[in-house]
Amino acid sequence: MKGVIAICLKEVVVSKFGVPKWNEIMTASGLNPNMAILASVDLEDAVVMNVVKNSCRILNLKLEQLADYFGDHWMNSYALKMYKPYYGTNSTAKDFIIKLSEIHTKVTNNIPNARPPKFAYDWKDENTLILTYISTRGLIDFVVGLAKGVGKYYHQKLSIRKISLTQVEIIFH
Ligand code: HEM
Repeated sequence: MKGVIAICLKEVVVSKFGVPKWNEIMTASGLNPNMAILASVDLEDAVVMNVVKNSCRILNLKLEQLADYFGDHWMNSYALKMYKPYYGTNSTAKDFIIKLSEIHTKVTNNIPNARPPKFAYDWKDENTLILTYISTRGLIDFVVGLAKGVGKYYHQKLSIRKISLTQVEIIFH
C-alpha cells in the first residue's frame, strides 16, 4: 500500500495521541520508530495492517473509531494538501463520491505495484446510494470513515451505514 496511507496514519496518531504513542506502535510492530516513510514508496499491505492493528490496541480504539479519525484527517487535511484538484470547484459530496474509482486510478497511475480500490454504484433512489467497495484489502471501516470525511468537507449531511463487508449505504440529504 502506498506510503501516503502510512504517513496520514502517523499524522493522526501523533496529532491526537503524541509522538511517544506512535513510537510505541512502531516498536510493537517491529519497525524503527524513526524510519522515514516516503509518500510514493509501496509498503507491504501486511506491514500497514499490522500497524493499524497495533494502533487500535495501544490507543484503545475500535477499528471503526480509528477509521473515522483517518477518514476525517485524509479528506480534510492530508489529501486536501496533496490532491486538491480532485476535489473540484462547486462540487457536491455526490459529485465527488461518483468519481472515486476514477480518482484512485488517476492518482496511482504512475506508481508501480499500486492496486487502488474500485467502487460500484447502485442507486436505490435519487439520494440513496449503495456503494460497493472492490478490493482485496477488506478496509470497509475506512470506506465509512472516509465517506464521513467527504460529507464534512462538502458541508453536507450524509447518513452512512455499513451494510456488509463490501457495501455501504450513503443517503445524501
Ligand atoms: C482526494 C481523495 C482521495 C485520494 C487522492 C485517494 C487516494 C488513495 C491512494 C493513493 C490510495 C493507495 C492505493 C494503493 O496503495 O494502491 C488509496 C487507498 C484507499 N482509498 Fe482512497 N483516496 C481518496 C479518497 C477516498 C475516499 C473518499 C474513499 C472511500 C469512501 C477512499 C477509499 C480508499 C480505501 C478503502 C483505500 C485502501 C486501499 C484498499 O482498500 O484497497 N479513498 N486512496
